[in-house]
Amino acid sequence: MFIELNQAFAALGAVTASYLAFKILLSIIRALKAYFFSRSLGLNTNLAKLGKWAVVTGATDGIGKAYAEQLAKMGLNMVLISRTMSKLEETASEIVSRYKVQTRVIAVDFCKGPEIYGDIETQLDGLEIGVLVNNVGMSYPFPNYFLELENVKQKIVDMLNCNCLSMSMMIAICLPQMETRRKGAIINVSSASGLSTCPLLALYSATKAYVNFLSQCLHYEYQDKGIVVQCVAPYFVTTKLSKIKKKSWTIPSPDTYVSSALGTVGVESLTMGCTSHALQKYVLECLPESMVTKNTMGILKSTRARALKKQAKTN
Ligand SMILES: NC(=O)c1ccc[n+]([C@@H]2O[C@H](COP(=O)([O-])OP(=O)(O)OC[C@H]3O[C@@H](n4cnc5c(N)ncnc54)[C@H](OP(=O)(O)O)[C@@H]3O)[C@@H](O)[C@H]2O)c1
Repeated sequence: MFIELNQAFAALGAVTASYLAFKILLSIIRALKAYFFSRSLGLNTNLAKLGKWAVVTGATDGIGKAYAEQLAKMGLNMVLISRTMSKLEETASEIVSRYKVQTRVIAVDFCKGPEIYGDIETQLDGLEIGVLVNNVGMSYPFPNYFLELENVKQKIVDMLNCNCLSMSMMIAICLPQMETRRKGAIINVSSASGLSTCPLLALYSATKAYVNFLSQCLHYEYQDKGIVVQCVAPYFVTTKLSKIKKKSWTIPSPDTYVSSALGTVGVESLTMGCTSHALQKYVLECLPESMVTKNTMGILKSTRARALKKQAKTN
């Protein structure tokens, strides 16, 4: 009896080990395909062939600016959208002089509601839009408890409008002509904090979960119609939003990050964008979720304490 039980446990152990080994091998193959071989094997979508124009929201800084520059480098004309006209004109003139493509700029505040989209639609009318990058997004000034957010009710409206309404409406504006032409790519910039619960960034995390779900659903709805929908979920990138200046292997610059993420379009419908972020996700997925959430909350609590201390000093 004891020997039989022993043999059963040994068999169960062998099956579990084989399953885990298979899962790890599959993840390694997927990562190699997405981040190392997709370009050289021509697996990623050729974005320049989808239409004459690309539209990027939040295009004057950080990740959005990197998308705008790298898409212009492929020869796509650019529509740049963000709030500040002077920054838009500066970015547009940089792009024109470097890449000899056409540009248009639209100054708009995506924290506003549905009323802004009629004008955007009019300004985009007649352009053959092959690529839409829904990049604009806002977070908290620092991690905080929901009720302690400054002007919490306004923050809810602003964040839902900026992070969720903007991408949904921009898709509704650009997708019809992509569907008619049976070509197009929609890249939605989400966040790793939308993949699992992120206390002290509750609103932000929830809006990014919306981005993930909408993107994944649209990917399945439109893949047979020739349209690629990709959700990009970065961890930290060195931008104004993250307030991180020093780049490293785990915290890339926007240029490095976007260059890697563009290689995954058409290969991964949900991408972490680069090898180091994919690895971070993989390691965290192997740990119990409650442990990861508690640990994240601990780190964010310390960040909050430091920010409050700094705020107290400056007041
Ligand atoms: N950086 C990270 O570590 C990180 C990590 C995960 C996810 N993300 C996501 O990546 C995206 C880009 O973030 P980022 O770090 O590149 O930000 P960023 O460097 O702060 O750039 C934000 C861009 O969006 C524009 N913008 C901001 N608020 C706007 C509004 N209300 N209406 C219109 N335009 C607006 C800004 O220009 P104006 O100020 O002139 O409007 C700027 O062009 C966001 O969706 C963010 O959630 C970033």
